[in-house]
Amino acid sequence: MHKELAHPLIHSLVNTLRDNTLDPFVFRHTIKEITKILLYEALNNQKLCSREIMTWNGVKTYSYVPEEDIVVVSVLRAGLSMHEAVIDTLKGAQSGFLGIKRDEVTHKSVLYYDRVGDCSGKKVILVDPMVATGGSLCDAIKVLKQKNAGEIQTLNILASPEGVQRVLEEYPQIDMIIAKIDEKLNNDKFILPGLGDAGDRAYNTL
Ligand code: PRP
Repeated sequence: MHKELAHPLIHSLVNTLRDNTLDPFVFRHTIKEITKILLYEALNNQKLCSREIMTWNGVKTYSYVPEEDIVVVSVLRAGLSMHEAVIDTLKGAQSGFLGIKRDEVTHKSVLYYDRVGDCSGKKVILVDPMVATGGSLCDAIKVLKQKNAGEIQTLNILASPEGVQRVLEEYPQIDMIIAKIDEKLNNDKFILPGLGDAGDRAYNTL
């Protein structure tokens, strides 16, 4: 299933990213702001665990997100800023990284780096700002399943309708939380209107 966040603040933040004159620092900052909102939505139905703590008034039991049962996995490079935003909030979560690059001619995604451990018994939050053809996200989900991931939620900033359809056709049980689904893909498989190459814009790549 997927959920597109319809909220004035999300619209405004996503449209901020479309400004090509935005410097990389503000671009990354805005990605992080949006990611915090996506995470808030993703954890809406999260089961909490109880923990005893020492308060000013003695030992008490309170509920918390079981951060140690969550693995945050990002797709390099553009997912890195999102990753930072998630682990700044879920400080006890574990991390994994997948290097996936889309071939510029064939538009097919290629896995070149895998630093994800065994995910048995863990919930995975998979972050990648862009879902164009959906190939990169499908590849990432395939790897996570091979690593025994249970529940997988994706946080995405921009997606094409075609990309969302492909991911959910291949993996109907995935929960996609998306800031904005744009109009379509162009012939070069870029999202329209989109925001360009998120990895290049975030890190000022030569
Ligand atoms: C972008 C983006 C996604 C992928 C989406 O990464 O961050 O990972 O493309 O395209 P898809 O849905 O058609 O697979 P890119 O390949 O540009 O790598 P980069 O982040 O290293 O620039």
